[in-house]
Amino acid sequence: MKNLPPLKGLETLLPEAALAFLAEQFPQQVCFSTSLGLEDQLVTHFIFQNKLPITIFTLQTGRLFKETEELLHQTQNYYGQKIEIFEPQADTVAQLEREKGRFSFYDSIENRKECCQIRKVEPLQRALSGFRVWVTGIRAQHSENRQNLPIWEWDEKFNLYKFHPLLHWTYEEVFDTIKKQQIPYNPLHEQGFVSIGCEPCTRAVKAGEDFRAGRWWWESSQQKECGLHTKS
Ligand code: ADX
Ligand code: SF4
Repeated sequence: MKNLPPLKGLETLLPEAALAFLAEQFPQQVCFSTSLGLEDQLVTHFIFQNKLPITIFTLQTGRLFKETEELLHQTQNYYGQKIEIFEPQADTVAQLEREKGRFSFYDSIENRKECCQIRKVEPLQRALSGFRVWVTGIRAQHSENRQNLPIWEWDEKFNLYKFHPLLHWTYEEVFDTIKKQQIPYNPLHEQGFVSIGCEPCTRAVKAGEDFRAGRWWWESSQQKECGLHTKS
C-alpha cells in the first residue's frame, strides 16, 4: 500500500471544501468520473458551481439509456462547462459484436466482464492517465463491498489516489440536496431506477430491494462489480 500524503482532516471537511483542498494540493492532477447518476450530479455541481480546476469525464459505453445521454447534454448546457467523453475502441467493440453478438453479457459472467472491460475499464484507463487523484461518487450504502472503504485511498490497480466525497451520505441526503439546489438529474430516478448503468444491464428496483439489485440482476450480489472499483 502506497503511503498516503498527509491530508489530515480531509474526512472532516464538507465535500465542496475537500474538493477545493485537493485541487489546490494536486494542481491539474485531479479528475472526477461521472456516470451522470444522482451522486455524480451532486459532485459535478460542487465542481462546476465553484469552478474548481478538476477535470470531469464520463465513459460513454455505447449502451447507455437515452435519458442518460440527454442528461449529459443538459448538464453541460446548464453549467456552460465541458464533460470529457471517453469511448471504447471501435474496432474491439465491432469484433466482440461480430463474434458474440450484442447481448453476450447475459450468457456468462466471463462474457459480462469481457464487455465491461472493453466498454468501461479500458476507456477508464485512458481517462485516468496523467492524473494523481480520482474522485468518484461512491457511497458506502451502495453495497457490501463499499461499506468499509476509506474516504481517501490508494488504488493499486490504476496507480493513483481515490477520493469518495459522498461516501457517508444517504440516498435521501443526496436526493434532497439535488432537489433543493435544483440540480439536473436523470428522470429514471423517479421510476424506481436507483443505480443506473448501461441500459441492457439495469432495471428498476422494487421497494425493499437493495441499491444495486437492479444492476446485472441476473448475477449474485458478490459479482456485481464491473472492474472500475475492484482490485483485479
Ligand atoms: S459501477 O462500477 O457499478 O459501474 P457505479 O454505477 O456504482 O459503478 O458508480 C460508482 C462510481 O463509478 C460513480 O460515482 C462514478 O464515479 C464511476 N462510474 C461508474 N460508471 C461510470 C461511467 N459510465 N462513466 C464515468 N464514471 C463512472
Ligand atoms: Fe457491457 Fe453491460 Fe458492462 Fe455495459 S454494464 S459494459 S453493456 S456488460
